[in-house]
Amino acid sequence: MRAVIFLLLSSFALTAARQRYEANWESLDKRPLPTWFDKGKIGIFLHWGVFSVPSFASEWFWNCWNSGNPSCVNFIKNNYRPNWTYADFARDFTAEFYNATEWAKLFEDAGASYVVFVSKHHEGFCNWPSNVSFNWNSMAVGPRKDLVGELANAIRKHTKIHFGVYHSMFEWYNPLYMRDKANGFRTQDFVNRKALPELYELVKTYKPDVIWSDGEWEASSQYWKSPEFIAWLYNDSPVRDTVVVNDRWGNETRCKHGGFLDCTDAYNPGTLQKRKWENSFPIDSSSWGYRRTMTIDQIHSIESMLTLLARTISCGGNLLINVGPTKSGRIIPVFEERLRQFGSWMKVNGEAVYETFPWKHQNDSVNPDLWYVARKLDGKTNVYAFVLKWPAEGQLIMADLKGSPRLKLSMLGYTGKKPFTWKSRPQGGVIAALPPLSPSEIPCNWAWVLKLENTLE
Ligand SMILES: *[C@@H]1O[C@H](CO)[C@@H](O)[C@H](O)[C@H]1NC(C)=O
Ligand SMILES: *[C@@H]1O[C@H](CO)[C@@H](O)[C@H](O)[C@H]1NC(C)=O
Ligand SMILES: *[C@@H]1O[C@H](CO)[C@@H](O)[C@H](O)[C@H]1NC(C)=O
Ligand SMILES: *[C@@H]1O[C@H](CO)[C@@H](O)[C@H](O)[C@H]1NC(C)=O
Ligand SMILES: *[C@@H]1O[C@H](CO)[C@@H](O)[C@H](O)[C@H]1NC(C)=O
Repeated sequence: MRAVIFLLLSSFALTAARQRYEANWESLDKRPLPTWFDKGKIGIFLHWGVFSVPSFASEWFWNCWNSGNPSCVNFIKNNYRPNWTYADFARDFTAEFYNATEWAKLFEDAGASYVVFVSKHHEGFCNWPSNVSFNWNSMAVGPRKDLVGELANAIRKHTKIHFGVYHSMFEWYNPLYMRDKANGFRTQDFVNRKALPELYELVKTYKPDVIWSDGEWEASSQYWKSPEFIAWLYNDSPVRDTVVVNDRWGNETRCKHGGFLDCTDAYNPGTLQKRKWENSFPIDSSSWGYRRTMTIDQIHSIESMLTLLARTISCGGNLLINVGPTKSGRIIPVFEERLRQFGSWMKVNGEAVYETFPWKHQNDSVNPDLWYVARKLDGKTNVYAFVLKWPAEGQLIMADLKGSPRLKLSMLGYTGKKPFTWKSRPQGGVIAALPPLSPSEIPCNWAWVLKLENTLE
C-alpha cells in the first residue's frame, strides 16, 4: 500500500515536474537546452541534394540560373541540351557510392558529437520518401534510397553521435508557396500541406535530436506556425527530452528565439555571448554544397579550422563543420583529410573541448594567438589555453593569468619529462617557457593546448 502511494506520488511528481510549453516564444524560450548539446561542442553538417549534380556555383544553383546570373545561365547553355530543366538533374543524383556506415565512422573519427543532415534544401527535393513530396524525393527519382533513414540508422548503430536534420521551410519555386507569397502570406496552404507535414513526418520517422531550420526569412513565424510545431516538439514528440532547435523559425526570430542561436551563416562574434550559439561554416569557404570548381585556396586549412574552434568555444559556441558530398555519395579526400586531421587533433586535445565552458577571459589581452576555456575535472576547475602559434623562443605571454604559487602548467598529450616553467610578467600575468620539443615529442602538429591547474581565478 505504501509502495503504491509512493509510486503514485512519484509519478505525480514526475508529471508535475515536466513543464509544458505554450505555442509562443516567451514560453518556448524558457526551455533549458538539453545539456548534451553544449557539452558536445562539435557537429558535422552535410549539404546533399539535386544541387550536388550540377555541383556548380553553390547549393543555390537553381536560383542562380533562374535569376539570370550569367555564369549559371552560360553553364547550362554551354553544357546541356536545349530546354534542359532543373528537374532533369534529379535522375543523375545517383548516390551509387553512398555508404552511410562509412560516413558515420568518419564523423566519429572526426570527433563529432552530432550530425546535421540536409533533409530538404530550398530546391524542395526531399532526401527521404516524404508523404507530401509526390515524386520530388530521393526514393522516387535519383538515388532511389531513403538517404535520411540510412544515415540515421548507421549513426545509431555504429556511434554515439546524435542524429539531426536540417530542413528548409521555404521552397523557391513550389507553386503552393508562390501562391501564399502572392497573397501576402495571408493564406497558409504551403505550410499546412507541405512544410509542417514534413517536419512532423521527419520527427516521427527519424527522431532527430537536432532540428536545424532554415529558409524562414520571407515570412513570420506565425505564417510558418513554428511556435505550434516547437511546442509539440518540446511537450509531446518522441524526442521531447533530447531535441534541440536553432533560431531560424520566422523573419523575426533569428538571433532572438529558439533553442540555440545561429544568427548568420558562419556566425563567430569573438566575444562572450549570453545564450548558447553555434558557428556553422563550410570547409569549402564559398559553398555548402559540393562544387567542382573549388580551388585549394578556398578550402580552410586545418590551422584555420582550429583557430575557428578556439575562438568559438571560448565564447560559448559550438562548431558545426560542413562538407558537401558528391552526387555519387563520396566525401572527397580533401574534406575527408580535414575531418581526420581535426579528429586526430581532438584525440589529443578533446579534454579542452568537450564539456568545457567559457572562462573569465576569452582571449588574451596581449597575445592575439591565445584563447582560453575552463572545465571542471575531478572536483577542480582547470583552465586551458589554446596556443595557436608556437611563440618565438618558446616564451609564451599569458597576460590575463595570475601566477599563483601553485600554478602548474602542462601540455595536453605531452608525456615526456621536459619541464613547463613560468615566471611572473612585470606588466601583469605570466610568461611561460615552452621547452623545445622535437617533431617526435610534440603531441600534435597545429595548435597546442596548455593545461593550467590551480589558477587563482
Ligand atoms: C524546346 O521547347 C520548345 C517550346 O516548348 C519547343 O518548341 C522546342 O521544339 C523544344 N526544343 C527542343 C530541342 O526540344
Ligand atoms: C560500407 O562500409 C562498411 C564499412 O567500411 C563496409 O563494411 C560495408 O561493406 C560497406 N557496404 C557496402 C554496401 O559497400
Ligand atoms: C505516410 O502516409 C501513409 C499513408 O497515408 C501513412 O500510413 C503513414 O503513417 C504516413 N507517415 C507519416 C510519418 O506520417
Ligand atoms: C515578416 O513576414 C510577414 C509575413 O508573414 C510580413 O508581413 C512582415 O512584414 C515581415 N516582417 C519583416 C520585418 O520583414
Ligand atoms: C581580444 O581581447 C581584447 C582585449 O581583451 C579585445 O580588445 C579584442 O577585440 C578581443 N578579440 C579578438 C578577436 O581578438
